[in-house]
Amino acid sequence: MADLTIALAKGRLQDEAIEFFRRAGIVVPDEARRSRRLLLDDESGRYSFIFVKPADVPVYVEYGVADAGVCGRDVLMESDADVHEPLDLGFGRCRLVVAGKPESEERGYNPLATARVATKFPRITADYFQQRGVPVEVIVLSGSVELAPALGLSEHIVDLVETGRTLRENGLVVIDEITESTARLIVNRASYHLKRDAMARLIANLRTCISEKPGQ
Ligand code: PRP
Repeated sequence: MADLTIALAKGRLQDEAIEFFRRAGIVVPDEARRSRRLLLDDESGRYSFIFVKPADVPVYVEYGVADAGVCGRDVLMESDADVHEPLDLGFGRCRLVVAGKPESEERGYNPLATARVATKFPRITADYFQQRGVPVEVIVLSGSVELAPALGLSEHIVDLVETGRTLRENGLVVIDEITESTARLIVNRASYHLKRDAMARLIANLRTCISEKPGQ
């Protein structure tokens, strides 16, 4: 049996995370890229990797089904999972922003009208608008939120921007930045103590691969 089970977020961060672990000497077999298997051991047999939706990584880690996990800071901010966060891994840099059509940037938020905002981040979105005293109707989608303003579903969106291409190609501009995000290592609180040797080895290995310049 493997020493530790690690949850990786499928999608945007998956390839970079696999490459990061490889640099740390933890080699996830290439099969991970090709196959549909959702649980694979690394070459040493010390680590089992599970591949799950980004928002589920903190859930698996909180419940101890995974001892550790890698997901974006944005996902952690949205989650209420109680996990330990020992490392900012520095890769997968992106921004969580409010965006809308160019004309909505000039007009700003109308404090008298309810802002309709489409997002995969309902909790962060509700907090953001509440803090500004702007009434908000949060429309929860699970992807392709950049379509919403064009189709009149919402005036604004809250979403991640990496290269900015998705916003640009869908006629949207950034109105405000909520936060920056990078990939984080998170750890189950009990595993952190009960499996301390294996955990210390994992954290030390990964730490050596974090580049001096964050996000590079
Ligand atoms: C993410 C994010 C944006 C896009 C930003 O979507 O939600 O849509 O990437 O990247 P860019 O600034 O480089 O264009 P993802 O690929 O996860 O797909 P989704 O539509 O399912 O959210």
